[in-house]
Amino acid sequence: MIRLATPDDLPSITTIYNHYVRHSHATFDLEPFADRAEWFSHYGAAPFWVLVDDEVTGYATSSVFRTKPAYRSTVETSVYVAPEAVGRGIGRALYADLLARLDEAGVHRCVAGIALPNDASVALHSACGFRPVGTFTEVGFKGRWVDVAWYERAPPR
Ligand SMILES: CC(C)(COP(=O)(O)OP(=O)(O)OC[C@H]1O[C@@H](n2cnc3c(N)ncnc32)[C@H](O)[C@@H]1OP(=O)(O)O)[C@@H](O)C(=O)NCCC(=O)NCCS
Repeated sequence: MIRLATPDDLPSITTIYNHYVRHSHATFDLEPFADRAEWFSHYGAAPFWVLVDDEVTGYATSSVFRTKPAYRSTVETSVYVAPEAVGRGIGRALYADLLARLDEAGVHRCVAGIALPNDASVALHSACGFRPVGTFTEVGFKGRWVDVAWYERAPPR
C-alpha cells in the first residue's frame, strides 16, 4: 500500500536518503542529514507530496521545480528505495501512485534530473512515461564530474 508520509516516517526516509548521500552520486547532497523536518515541511499541500510504501522501504516526492509563478504547473519528481529493497517493484509502485495523483491534480509536466550513470532510474522513468530531453554535462562534482540527464512527462491524453 502506498500512502502519504507522516512525520513518524522521517527517520526511515532519512536513513534511506543518507545512504545515497554517502554512497552514490544519485543525489548531489554531500553531507548526511540529522533531521529532515524542515525539508518535510515543504510537502503536504497538492501537488507537493512525499509518498511511502507501508514498510517505508522507499519514498517518492513531487517538489517545486522553479519558484517563479509561471512554473507552477510543473513539478520535479524523485524516488529513493532502500538499498536492500531495490529491484522488487517498489520504485515503480511509488512512482505509479505519485504520477496518478499528479495527473489527477492537473499537473502539466513532471520533470526529473538523473545523475548518470543510473540504469535503474533511467529504466524506471522510461517505464513511467518520461522521455529524455537533454543532458547537462559535468554540472555536479562528487568525487568526479557528473552529467545530469533531464526527463519530462506529460499527462496521458
Ligand atoms: C532508481 C530506483 C528508485 C528504482 O527503484 P526500484 O524499486 O529498484 O525499481 P523497480 O524494481 O520498481 O523497477 C522499475 C523498472 O526499472 C527496471 N530496473 C530496475 N533496476 C534496474 C537496473 N539496475 N537496470 C536496469 N533496469 C532496472 C525494472 O526492470 C523495472 O522496469 P519494468 O517496470 O518495465 O519491469 C532505485 O534503484 C533507487 O532507489 N536507486 C538509488 C536512488 C536513485 O537513483 N534514485 C533516483 C534518483 S533520479
